[in-house]
Amino acid sequence: MSKHAVLRLPSQGSWDNLVEAKEPRPSAGKHEVLIKVRSVALNFRDIAIATGKYPFPVKENLVPGSDLAGDIVQLGESVSGLQEGDKVVVAFDPTTTYGPIKSWANALGGPVDGVLSEYVVAPESGVVKVPNESTLSYAQWASVVCTGTTVWNALYGINRLMPGHTVLFQGTGGVSITGLALAKAAGAQTIITSSSDEKLQHVKAKYGVDHTINYKKTPDWAAEVQKITNGQGVDFILENGGSGTIRQSLNAIAFGGCISVIGFLSSASQEEMPDVAGLALAKGAVVRGIIIGSKQQLEEAVRFIGVRNLPMPIDKTFTFCRDQVIDAMKYLVSGQHIGKVCITF
Ligand SMILES: NC(=O)c1ccc[n+]([C@@H]2O[C@H](COP(=O)([O-])OP(=O)(O)OC[C@H]3O[C@@H](n4cnc5c(N)ncnc54)[C@H](OP(=O)(O)O)[C@@H]3O)[C@@H](O)[C@H]2O)c1
Repeated sequence: MSKHAVLRLPSQGSWDNLVEAKEPRPSAGKHEVLIKVRSVALNFRDIAIATGKYPFPVKENLVPGSDLAGDIVQLGESVSGLQEGDKVVVAFDPTTTYGPIKSWANALGGPVDGVLSEYVVAPESGVVKVPNESTLSYAQWASVVCTGTTVWNALYGINRLMPGHTVLFQGTGGVSITGLALAKAAGAQTIITSSSDEKLQHVKAKYGVDHTINYKKTPDWAAEVQKITNGQGVDFILENGGSGTIRQSLNAIAFGGCISVIGFLSSASQEEMPDVAGLALAKGAVVRGIIIGSKQQLEEAVRFIGVRNLPMPIDKTFTFCRDQVIDAMKYLVSGQHIGKVCITF
């Protein structure tokens, strides 16, 4: 039986616990496909899982990683909508084909084995084909899985982005820069915040963001947003900070706007927490938590990115082996990146 390389996390606590194993290569069941993995995009979640800080259930001896792009190399006997050789991605939770994710039990690389292995079996129903004619790399497509779906959900899940709307992104990580690319392509005005002037200059030069604010130098960045928007506020905020930034977000949001609570990168003590209910009511604003999104939302994001051949922002790639994956995690934690960090096979 042929074997393939797999990374496993026998115990949480540190990424140093990762081990590389040779295991029997899986094969596709009746309604499944076998995918040769070409790239895996990393997320902050992968670090939280490796270091034991993820607040949701994690499988024992996990194969980490949730976001792959690859090629189908084998079809199960009942698979009808896909072909060998198709370039594909797999939904973050392959069991949620539409609507909200309703449990934490099925997301790849957490409660079930993920994708940091040479081959992965996936159910046909969770697989999305990417356009053959696209010039995007496997790393760019892998980046659409968690990050792209999350951004799509934030911009089109309830309130729907329209040309001329203003969108604010917190920080210069994967979610923000991917969101920036999608929002700009949809005709929005964009604002990004960062702790670093250097990063803001880079984002302006490379990704063409309309306005930048240094949230360290301008802690009351909501006041700056009100100036930029002539007192209207922004229509969408991708809230990556969480409880530590929600007060500013509620001050920056427009009447009827939508704050998508995505990240938990900064925290506030209970005493510092604003009256979220009162402030949301005062603006008639939506404050909604986001759990990634469905396969349908991934499909919609893939279609838009494919039609526009929209380059996804890859900061750096590492190669698939234990030491390089650990280096990639360390790099992600260092916060030097602007956009996505990926593993290529
Ligand atoms: N809910 C979901 O479905 C979902 C999906 C994807 C990701 N997430 C979460 O979303 C967050 C962002 O993910 P990511 O992949 O973009 O992470 P990332 O690539 O690691 O980016 C993190 C960036 O956020 C910025 N940041 C840190 N503290 C901040 C603060 N107080 N205010 C504003 N920005 C701050 C920093 O940018 P600067 O260096 O420029 O300051 C940092 O580089 C994480 O918490 C992640 O777990 C949630």
